[in-house]
Amino acid sequence: MILDRWEEFQEKDPGNMLAEIEHLPEQLKKAWSLGQDMPLQESRRIRNVVLAGMGGSAIGADLLQAYALSHVPIPIIVWRNYALPAFVGKESLVILSSHSGNTEETLSAFDHALETGAKLIAVTTGGELAVRAKDAGVPLWQFEHVGQPRAAVGYSFGLLLAAISHMGWLPDPVEEVADAVASMKDQQVALGADVPIAQNAAKRVAGQLVGRWPTFIGADFLAPVARRWRTQVSEIAKAVAQFEELPEADHNLVAGVPYPEELIPKMMVIFLKASHYHPRNQLRIDVTREVLMVEGFNTDLFQAQGKSRLAQQWTTLHFGDYVSYYLAMSYGVDPSPVPAIEELKRRIKDLTEGKS
Ligand code: F6R
Repeated sequence: MILDRWEEFQEKDPGNMLAEIEHLPEQLKKAWSLGQDMPLQESRRIRNVVLAGMGGSAIGADLLQAYALSHVPIPIIVWRNYALPAFVGKESLVILSSHSGNTEETLSAFDHALETGAKLIAVTTGGELAVRAKDAGVPLWQFEHVGQPRAAVGYSFGLLLAAISHMGWLPDPVEEVADAVASMKDQQVALGADVPIAQNAAKRVAGQLVGRWPTFIGADFLAPVARRWRTQVSEIAKAVAQFEELPEADHNLVAGVPYPEELIPKMMVIFLKASHYHPRNQLRIDVTREVLMVEGFNTDLFQAQGKSRLAQQWTTLHFGDYVSYYLAMSYGVDPSPVPAIEELKRRIKDLTEGKS
């Protein structure tokens, strides 16, 4: 089985995405400690928070929103678009997150935020966002990371977590961060490339996804993790996938499952479950799985590891990163580059500049 010939992975993975995944626990730890000394904004008059970014730089914002909303006394929204919503004004905090600093939607949100008089923080490795932030005197949270933005999710989450907790809106999560890091490290011992498929749950799940159309379903603080599994399968394994969220999926998805009949055996639905879910969502995970199984869907369940909510969020994310990596190895694709995304960005730029 290809997934047990791990010595061959290096050849298919010249950018060493595997090392990025292996070091994710350390990256989260590092990001959290880097965030302790960054410049902040005055929090007293802030009535809402907008986290603006795209793709690999937005997922950290989703994770933060899902983790923090049950504590933070003001609304937090994630904005993946140009400009900003109309409610943004002087009493808003807008945090712009872009790994490269050159993403046009995020730069548009930056310019818009400046015009509205909102308070800003820019999170980036550099690029145009860093230049504009320096010019405008906006607090700049610059971090070093060479590689793909999606591999820097520890930074894009850990820095935002530090920002929101230092603004005084969140009980100090320091112990949960330590628990998340330790739980990811415990879990990854059995997920490494050299662990054979018979003992490696991530390789087994990847094997189940080969040749199938996966759907990942999560709830509460794991809803963005279901999205992360989907985006990682797209960008790392170059394969189709989708994600859904409970309880919402119980109000529509379950109605649309009998057709097309010939596609059902090709579907694979993975449910993400956590002991910190709302009890009704725990029940919904099990009942929804039964409904789909009866319709003939292949299903499986991942149980989040670790004690705290943050540990459960991050062990589930980390497991999904390994799954997408092993899926890439099964399909024989290079997990790092995303030529389709680069090409699309180039085409949009060329059209704007009048080149054909
Ligand atoms: C590529 C990736 C993309 C980028 C997105 C925005 O690895 O994850 O989803 O994150 O195109 O680019 P940045 O993050 O540079 O703003």
